Amino acid sequence: MSESVSQTAGAVSLHAVAKRFGDVRAVNGVTLSVEPGSFFTLLGPSGCGKSTLLRMIAGLEEPSGGTIHIDGEDVTGLSAQRRPTAMVFQSYALFPTMTVEENVAYGLRVRRVPSADRKRRVQEALDRVGMAHLLDRNVTALSGGQQQRVALARALVVEPAVMLFDEPLSNLDVALREQTRSELRDLQRGLGTTSIYVTHDQQEAMAISDVMAVMRDGKIVQLGAPDALYHEPETAYVASFLGGSNIIQGSLAARFAADSADKSVAGRVLSVRPDDLRPDPEGAVTGRVISRQFLGHQAEWEVAVDDEILRLRMPSTITLETETRLSATRMRWVLNDL
Ligand SMILES: Nc1ncnc2c1ncn2[C@@H]1O[C@H](COP(=O)(O)OP(=O)(O)OP(=O)(O)O)[C@@H](O)[C@H]1O
Ligand SMILES: [Mg+2]
Repeated sequence: MSESVSQTAGAVSLHAVAKRFGDVRAVNGVTLSVEPGSFFTLLGPSGCGKSTLLRMIAGLEEPSGGTIHIDGEDVTGLSAQRRPTAMVFQSYALFPTMTVEENVAYGLRVRRVPSADRKRRVQEALDRVGMAHLLDRNVTALSGGQQQRVALARALVVEPAVMLFDEPLSNLDVALREQTRSELRDLQRGLGTTSIYVTHDQQEAMAISDVMAVMRDGKIVQLGAPDALYHEPETAYVASFLGGSNIIQGSLAARFAADSADKSVAGRVLSVRPDDLRPDPEGAVTGRVISRQFLGHQAEWEVAVDDEILRLRMPSTITLETETRLSATRMRWVLNDL
């Protein structure tokens, strides 16, 4: 029974949500729905309004306009404590004078959960994140990765309908970040808790999300599954942000796309991923290799064509002639919004 409840709980819907700080429009009219049980990511560069939007969903920031519903209930005017949400912060935000156990128990104490029940739930949450053995440790005596696990347990323990994450992994080193992100994903799948995750890291967003929304200047510019966003960006902004496309304009674009069924349209530019450029003796474009960066399995070359510099990525075992004809194995016309 409880399973069917958890599968239908945690629907989040935002309508025309906005936030101004004086003259700054931090969030500028966001409308979206998050499916119950899904992993939804807000992705965008620094300052685009991700945290502000997440904090409004949490009830930590009051919207200047719009409404927020969770499971059909209008929560726009509710305080953070009265919403079925729990948040994990980049800074962990643990109580430094408390032990692991006390930190995790805090939310249950505030909710006046009886002590026996509290003990069991704290134990369970710490088990889930692999931290039960450090129950009595003061949180200041933990590594960053351990602190983040405690922060996660502290959010899990209140059994929220919606988990909110604001760049929770960005203080961890690369290896730990990748490990923790897949553990987080497994945990989320197992629990089926709706999760809204904020990051500026496109790799992380693509690896972890069911659906992601790319933000720019307080707005959502495109929303979809990671594959769809990566392969079918609508704008030059999204194409560059996900996968660092070459954005090619004018006559050079026309030369690349000479045999393409797609015709250049006013206001559109050609997007070609570095992985989709190839040396080709029949290629319509000649470039001059100006640099090569070794990345391990792959290498990335900078190739000057006319007065543009294109990036090309191939297995690092391949050698490129200084003067190389190029073709694009895949390309896409996108709106020029840069
Ligand atoms: N309390 C505040 N007072 C004034 N301006 C604010 C406040 N909080 C955020 N802003 C501004 O709102 C805009 C969006 O900020 P926000 O923190 O939401 O961005 P972000 O996408 O989370 O960026 P980052 O990736 O750097 O964390 C920025 O221009 C920021 O300076
Ligand atoms: Mg932020």
